[in-house]
Amino acid sequence: MTDVANARRRIRTAVVWDGLSAAIEARLPGRTQLDVLDVGGGTGGFAVPLAQAGHLVTVLEPNPDALAALERRAAEAGVSERVRWVQADAADLAGLVQPGGCDLVLCHGVLEHVDDPAAVLAAVAGTLRPDGLVSVLVANPNGAALARAVAGHLDQARAVLAHPAGRWGERDPLPRRFTPQQAAALFPPAGLAVFATHGVRVCADLVPGALVEGEPDAIASLLALEAVLAEHPDFHAVAGQLHLLASRLPGS
Ligand SMILES: C[S@@+](CC[C@H](N)C(=O)[O-])C[C@H]1O[C@@H](n2cnc3c(N)ncnc32)[C@H](O)[C@@H]1O
Repeated sequence: MTDVANARRRIRTAVVWDGLSAAIEARLPGRTQLDVLDVGGGTGGFAVPLAQAGHLVTVLEPNPDALAALERRAAEAGVSERVRWVQADAADLAGLVQPGGCDLVLCHGVLEHVDDPAAVLAAVAGTLRPDGLVSVLVANPNGAALARAVAGHLDQARAVLAHPAGRWGERDPLPRRFTPQQAAALFPPAGLAVFATHGVRVCADLVPGALVEGEPDAIASLLALEAVLAEHPDFHAVAGQLHLLASRLPGS
């Protein structure tokens, strides 16, 4: 990955890591080795750093190429013994993972792709211990509309807002996106209560690339701005992604 791509990735994920770390510290204090499940964990962008932090991570991922990259990444990081993986679709989660055995389940960038997001989130809830946490990251159509507009694709910006699943056209790689209201509404039927929502990539994808090219001060400023915007409820509506943290509803 180039320096610019690395900087972009760091800016895009910093807010998610901040929210996740704060939730673990506040809700699972003193727990140094969590049982983590990463649904659609891809090449291990979250799984490997969590294993490096001492946690035991299981990645459920259907793409064999992603799993091969995950295996290499875990080996390079020296955490192969703390990362295991299952090649499977999220739809089959309930039959593959022991119920009630996870402290933390990540579902980042996956509900956009699955056939039945509500069923996947209910299956995720079923894997949690009573005090377990869920971290969900989803794309927001409002943020996509802004990004398409700033890139000069004005018709696509209008199309995202008009499309029932928030898509900008046939070539859009995402099958669906979730507005803040749609994302929040997924949780209670799954037996989950959202305790924190953050806006992610509010500005990160909109500022010109030249700003993050070899400019450490600009990158630091953008990281600081994203951290403030993430906590600002007015900006959730236009964030590129939404990060929702949830726990089990009492009695569920
Ligand atoms: C945008 S990537 C996110 C990867 C990783 N969660 C991260 O945040 O770095 C989406 C991932 O979801 C996986 N995926 C797509 N459809 C899926 C499904 N039906 N069940 C489980 N994972 C799926 C893809 O293979 C891909 O690895």
